[in-house]
Amino acid sequence: MQAIRIIHDEHRSLAAVLHGMLYLLRQIRDGGAKPNFELFGAMIYYFDAFPERFHHPKEDNYLFRVLRIRHPDAAPLLDRLEKEHWDGAHKIRTLERTLTRYQHGGEAEFPKFATAVEAYAAFHWEHMRTEEDQVLPLAQEHLSPDDWKAVDTAFLEHGDPMLGAEAGDEYEALFRRIVNLAPPPIGVGPEAR
Ligand SMILES: [Fe+2]
Ligand SMILES: [Fe+2]
Repeated sequence: MQAIRIIHDEHRSLAAVLHGMLYLLRQIRDGGAKPNFELFGAMIYYFDAFPERFHHPKEDNYLFRVLRIRHPDAAPLLDRLEKEHWDGAHKIRTLERTLTRYQHGGEAEFPKFATAVEAYAAFHWEHMRTEEDQVLPLAQEHLSPDDWKAVDTAFLEHGDPMLGAEAGDEYEALFRRIVNLAPPPIGVGPEAR
């Protein structure tokens, strides 16, 4: 069940960037640190590219699709999660808008940006927890070995022939860029001042 391992790994990567962003907000709010807009921009781009355009479509098109067939009772749960995948895209636009206002409007715009980031993080914790605690156990119970073969192949190949095998490398490069831009303890970039 490679797909389960990959989903957990991808959730951990997303969680790391979410934690990093919340840490940076605290540094600004409580520690008087200056915002690094390039880093915030790279993080929001990561949320848009990784969970929204890469991770969620694989869940919808492969794991959720097969689970709907094998266990129709899961439909309300999967409907909710798929709707959250759609909602996530709108939340990204809110993050981008509030970041632009903060960058050009100054400190007065910080609280709205911070609220948008905190809401996005809370939304994703809850979403990932539901997938890990409810969807994955149901899938383990109801999918056949052949189902897993097909789902695993899709997740290992990143599920989209348009993306190709290099897609995973691209996201890794994006993640490394964030680590290089972020100050310790979340990355190896210059210290925040
Ligand atoms: Fe999801
Ligand atoms: Fe997920």
